[in-house]
Amino acid sequence: MENTIRSLQQEIIDFEIGTKADLEAFRLRFTVRKGLIANLFAELKSVDPAEKPRIGQMLNQLKLAAEAKCNEATEKFAADEAFGNARKDLTLPGRRDFTGSEHPVQKVLGEMKRIFSDMGFGIATGPELELDSFNFDMLNFPPDHPARDMQDTFFITRKQNGSDVLLRTHTSPVQIRVMLDRKPPIRVICPGKVYRNEAISARSYCVFHQLEGLYIDRKVSFADLKATIYSFARQMFGTDVKLRFRPSFFPFTEPSAEVDVTCYLCGGKGCRVCKKSGWLEIMGCGMVHPNVLVNCGIDPETWSGYAFGMGVDRTVLLQYKIDDIRLLFENDIRMLRQFPA
Ligand code: PHE
Repeated sequence: MENTIRSLQQEIIDFEIGTKADLEAFRLRFTVRKGLIANLFAELKSVDPAEKPRIGQMLNQLKLAAEAKCNEATEKFAADEAFGNARKDLTLPGRRDFTGSEHPVQKVLGEMKRIFSDMGFGIATGPELELDSFNFDMLNFPPDHPARDMQDTFFITRKQNGSDVLLRTHTSPVQIRVMLDRKPPIRVICPGKVYRNEAISARSYCVFHQLEGLYIDRKVSFADLKATIYSFARQMFGTDVKLRFRPSFFPFTEPSAEVDVTCYLCGGKGCRVCKKSGWLEIMGCGMVHPNVLVNCGIDPETWSGYAFGMGVDRTVLLQYKIDDIRLLFENDIRMLRQFPA
């Protein structure tokens, strides 16, 4: 008898009551009128009278332990239910799901693409993992040009058909791919991500977006380039915008220029963003270098063309008043939610 009591004591301690069904099973086994403990009380009659007080006391304790466990679980379930009911307020408005929306970079890129496609430009894309020869050689970069320096370029250390593979540092290799692929006339824009191994800060990041333009036809002149850029700038930045072409250098264009627009935040008066100059640089451009045309099997005596390449992210930052370029790439949902569709 004593052993039975002890093993039941342990069983009561170990019994896990996680659900109401568990509670009912516990009750049926231990505390009901025909349960195990009641049976033991019935057997108490046949215990040696000398032992009876001690065994009786043990049995009483067993009964109390079972009842206490049973009560505790009953109360816990009742409290859970009351809490659950109190929490349901049927008058509260439903919770709205967050529907995804376009990333600010894609919004601005979309606007740029629309403007150029209205002017008759098609869209071309190329790989971000690019051959050194397309990113540099074919674009007329001399072998020792400083832009190939390890500081600017993320090289991937394997060779493919004798050319190093790298993360493209600009969208200009897409020009090469398009010219190798098609015969002129050609009129395309090439939007995409580019990579540069630069120090990361609020103003520069190791990844950013460019939009390249290429137009090859008979008798294309710098005047055509200026008119196209001007038309783009008026649509993108407002009809009051003025342009400034500053002579510049790119290996793949000759002559080359950098283009500034009047700062559309201060209207050219000078502010913190344009560093008091009244101008914002938006792109590089120029007439496609004859060497580049020859590299792509296009006769520079018959065909000429212009190319331009602009950064997209800076415009995004200005347009949406975002003050740190890193926010564009971190995909933090708290930032993205501020740009609903
Ligand atoms: N690829 C140049 C850059 O990344 C921009 C550019 C494109 C300049 C096309 C001229 C013509 O800086």
